[in-house]
Amino acid sequence: MTGKRAIERLEARRREAELGGGEERIKAQHARGKLLARERLDLLLDESSFVEMGRFVTHRCRDFGLDDRQVLGDGVVTGYGTIRGRLVYVFSQDFTVFGGSLGEAHAGKIVKVQEMAMKNGAPLVGLNDSGGARIQEGVVSLGGYADIFLRNTLASGVVPQISAILGPCAGGAVYSPAITDWVYMVRGASYMFVTGPDVVKTVTHETIDMEGLGGADVHAEKSGVAHFVHDTEAECLAAVRDLFKYIPQNNAQRPPAGSGRDPHDRREESLADMAPDNPNLPYDMLEVIRAVVDDGDFYEVHARFAPNIVTGFAHVGGRSVGVVANQPAVLAGVLDIDSSDKGARFVRFCDAFNIPLVVFEDVPGFLPGVSQEHGGIIRHGAKLLYAFSEATVPKVTVITRKAYGGAYDVMNSKHVRGDVNLAWPAAEIAVMGPKGAVEILFRKEIAEADDPKAAAEAKMKEYREAFAHPYAAASRGYVDDVIDPRDTRPRLANALDMLSEKRDANPPKKHGNIPL
Ligand code: HXC
Repeated sequence: MTGKRAIERLEARRREAELGGGEERIKAQHARGKLLARERLDLLLDESSFVEMGRFVTHRCRDFGLDDRQVLGDGVVTGYGTIRGRLVYVFSQDFTVFGGSLGEAHAGKIVKVQEMAMKNGAPLVGLNDSGGARIQEGVVSLGGYADIFLRNTLASGVVPQISAILGPCAGGAVYSPAITDWVYMVRGASYMFVTGPDVVKTVTHETIDMEGLGGADVHAEKSGVAHFVHDTEAECLAAVRDLFKYIPQNNAQRPPAGSGRDPHDRREESLADMAPDNPNLPYDMLEVIRAVVDDGDFYEVHARFAPNIVTGFAHVGGRSVGVVANQPAVLAGVLDIDSSDKGARFVRFCDAFNIPLVVFEDVPGFLPGVSQEHGGIIRHGAKLLYAFSEATVPKVTVITRKAYGGAYDVMNSKHVRGDVNLAWPAAEIAVMGPKGAVEILFRKEIAEADDPKAAAEAKMKEYREAFAHPYAAASRGYVDDVIDPRDTRPRLANALDMLSEKRDANPPKKHGNIPL
């Protein structure tokens, strides 16, 4: 074949690969409001940066008529490109080819980019749109999934792994995204479940549709499987790009700097009376966070799951940070099962990827109750304690109001290696609040008093004066300073600068045993 004809043949095969499952299925995909695998990559990656690998790969299955149906690329587009100028590896499943189902060759292509991501220290973004294991390939496709799960696990904590769910994600297929660091979903288009509505109906006699069982809102609010939920694919992929403002390429690199335009020494007047004098009144911790971080930009993670704790990324003084904050506006900011899980996983991501932790603390304690105890609040709360304790990144805490009981210890206290621990002047740091303390310590005395209510009030006043302030903790060095709330941003920026070369390590071990 002449050079020119060979090039023509190449171009024809390239066009064939780009057609995927053919015009009709492409139309059907668009008719559902869904984009094609390559269109999604165009939105995700910097313009013209995508380099495809494995475009001509085909399956080797001979069963159920598949030998007659070879599609170039085998239903997944893989390769690398850049996001905000930084190298990323990608795969994007093509639903027009056998419903994006995963067989041996399809899995092999994903494994290849997983391995390249690990070797070359760059994040991996997976765009999932698949009917799961390719039925015609039988156990080989199950093996393909397991090959992917293994690499997900090995890559965990080495390179950031991001999953966007842009279509169905059923059966064991959900476990690859679940092992990755961040799961994005799109309302009305993405579904994740281990068994679908029909199986649920057969086994448990519950009637539910796909959206109700495993739609984006369910996973963003109830199960916590999804960290982010968006209305459109375009919004979702733009949000994935934005995440790269905060996360590094791998566990050996520092996270990217912000613009640093917002003055480091900016005082924030609104913080002076942000926390109400009455400790029982709520306020919105998100307002505190936005007032403090650079340009008010806060990339919230898991915004709708366990909103009594807030997690997310920001820059402070140009440095990328992971923010963990109790939210007094929801359940008074208590720690419960879900908020402990949410906080712990976030803290571990930040620690794995060298992102300093900034904690805003206003916590009345752990949530009491039979369902919490029986649900294992001990085990779940221990995860957050464990995560903060093992973290060796720079760790700074600001106690804005309450720091009571075990929750005081958990929320990045000095005792679990908090580097800089600050408190606002109205902070209350004690074993418990005045009412609870007085009821336990003076129950008999109060009951026997002529005026029990007045007696209780007097004891509470006494307790408040003795404990409901930050100075007992400060006198022992458990908080390093009591600060004017308006100085929070300058003090945080200064602390993060001071800690920028921090070195700390845990004892050598194969790995710890976090209470799962
Ligand atoms: C092979 C599949 C397929 C699969 C879909 N297709 N799923 N081919 N293996 N798993 C094909 C269909 O035959 C069809 O081919 C095309 O994809 C589109 O499928 P439709 O059903 O027409 O589309 P839709 O109505 O949108 O429904 C999508 C769907 C449904 C919800 C994903 O197809 C479905 O329920 N599929 C099966 C899901 C499933 O049970 N997977 C196995 C899970 S177990 P044509 O040629 O007509 O275009 C699993 C184990 C993982 O994944 C193990 C890990 C441990």
